[in-house]
Amino acid sequence: LKLAVLISGGGSNLKALIEATSDPEFPAEIVCVGADTAAAGLAYAEAAGIPSFVVRPADHANRAEWGAALAAGIQNHGADLVVSAGLMRILPAGFVSEFSPRLINTHPALLPLFPGAHAVRDALAAGATETGVTVHIIDEGVDTGPVLRQAVVAVRAGEAEADLHERIKQEERPLLVRTVREIADGTLDLAAVAGAAAGAAA
Ligand code: GRF
Repeated sequence: LKLAVLISGGGSNLKALIEATSDPEFPAEIVCVGADTAAAGLAYAEAAGIPSFVVRPADHANRAEWGAALAAGIQNHGADLVVSAGLMRILPAGFVSEFSPRLINTHPALLPLFPGAHAVRDALAAGATETGVTVHIIDEGVDTGPVLRQAVVAVRAGEAEADLHERIKQEERPLLVRTVREIADGTLDLAAVAGAAAGAAA
């Protein structure tokens, strides 16, 4: 299984995937890393000798063209699973239809609770006693695709957002690695999950 990993920031999830895939027994390899900006996480790709590329929205006339350029970078490396791991952009419909259901995202909340860009802050503001992380297939909505795997994290009263987010990431990184492994070894069939969800929605 050839992974394309998409990031916007520090890339600790990317780092976890790089560490996991560096084991020759792991059934997947990362063939490229794409970013929407000069993300700090790109340093992990460089250190690991993994090709990376930056596709800035500001360099494109619109989101659709940005998505097409991002897709081209991924296709050039022959990836067959796209992993959004801290990409802080909504992928345009054309991109989603090109890659889904072989297109997954990790989100720091228990979807469908707390979708969107401020999930950790929203869970704290809501007084949630627990939250967590979701790995899901990206569909045409925002954080609405079929859920693949989740992990629960207890919220500590009065906890700072950054502290809770780091505790969530401590669950998120192994969950993402395990989900990628299960997709690679066939335990998790993305087309079947997507088909079942579509059937349910019909
Ligand atoms: C992750 O928690 C991801 O779920 C969210 O942004 C965070 C990125 O963290 N969308 P990192 O860049 O992988 O450290």
